Amino acid sequence: RNLKWQIQCRGDIGRLNAPFLAIYESLIPAEEEKAKQKQLLTLLEKLVCKEWPDARLYLYGSCANSFGVCKSDIDVCLAINNKEINKSEILLKLADILQTDNLQNVQALTRARVPIVKLMDPVTGISCDICINNLLAVVNTKLLRDYARIDVRLRQLAFIVKHWAKSRGVNETYQGTLSSYAYVLMCIHFLQQRRPAILPCLQGMDKTYSVTVDDIEYSYFDQVERLRDFGSHNKETIAQLVWAFFNYWAYGHDYASNVISVRTGSIIRKLEKDWTRRVGNDRHLICIEDPFEITHDLGRVVDKYSIKVLREEFERAAEIMQYDPNPCVTLFERY
Ligand code: GTP
Ligand code: MG
Repeated sequence: RNLKWQIQCRGDIGRLNAPFLAIYESLIPAEEEKAKQKQLLTLLEKLVCKEWPDARLYLYGSCANSFGVCKSDIDVCLAINNKEINKSEILLKLADILQTDNLQNVQALTRARVPIVKLMDPVTGISCDICINNLLAVVNTKLLRDYARIDVRLRQLAFIVKHWAKSRGVNETYQGTLSSYAYVLMCIHFLQQRRPAILPCLQGMDKTYSVTVDDIEYSYFDQVERLRDFGSHNKETIAQLVWAFFNYWAYGHDYASNVISVRTGSIIRKLEKDWTRRVGNDRHLICIEDPFEITHDLGRVVDKYSIKVLREEFERAAEIMQYDPNPCVTLFERY
């Protein structure tokens, strides 16, 4: 495996840049889609504020972290300061309030892992999930968005990796593969590790932004407009990065011992985190540390069957990037 990790990239990698960039461009959502999302959020705010004047709505997830491809659903967080009643009651009440002529298929899913209200807006055609007080998701959404503003290659790489994962059926947490959020963290970490580095480690720099959630402070450097040249010493192009990303996850990563950590901008040891054995349902077969909830392994959903599927997909992708005459097609073939 290690020998393979040392292999030279194919000589004609340069000719793959234009087609990969074309795929990236085709996945960027249109401005009008953003406008429709805003419109739906405004409608929701109006309805929610009648019942809870102090409540606030935040967009999070791919509609706000800049890693959303076109025609995505939106994720909304209702921030409400009401310690008296429980989440289920709030969700049922919320579903009731939103049950208006303007919205369709309003359902409260109170028993889900993350309880939500789901709905569809027939005017814009957008579906939406609303959760309650999941403020860390709003904070990690900002972190991802800030990273994306430093170097455009992050967004390019993440769009291609997400598109690959969806096409190959390895973006399904309920089937033991990884969330989109996990893939974006893998891309950020990968670009932090390039030499010269393409991304810095924002949580390792002076704090310019800080927020308190449930009495815990989270902070990092967020003046990213000052970091626009950060990656300029590294001239790697998108095709080289896609090649190297899959090569790393196929042959370079030490699954037995290592954890990738965006928080520290480095690789840390499973031993250090006590992630060496199965605890409950968490098997730690691929370890991706959440940047804020550091006891959270985003690979915890992966089981002994799906780790095989994932690693075979990484190897397939690496082989295609190395040898296939037409990787921009083969990579995304439906599984
Ligand atoms: P797509 O909808 O697939 O385009 O991507 P998405 O960015 O919306 O990703 P996903 O549905 O995986 O997650 C939505 C948001 O929820 C993420 O951006 C995170 O903010 C948050 N999130 C998802 N999974 C986790 C998790 O396991 N831990 C934490 N802390 N946050 C999560
Ligand atoms: Mg989403």
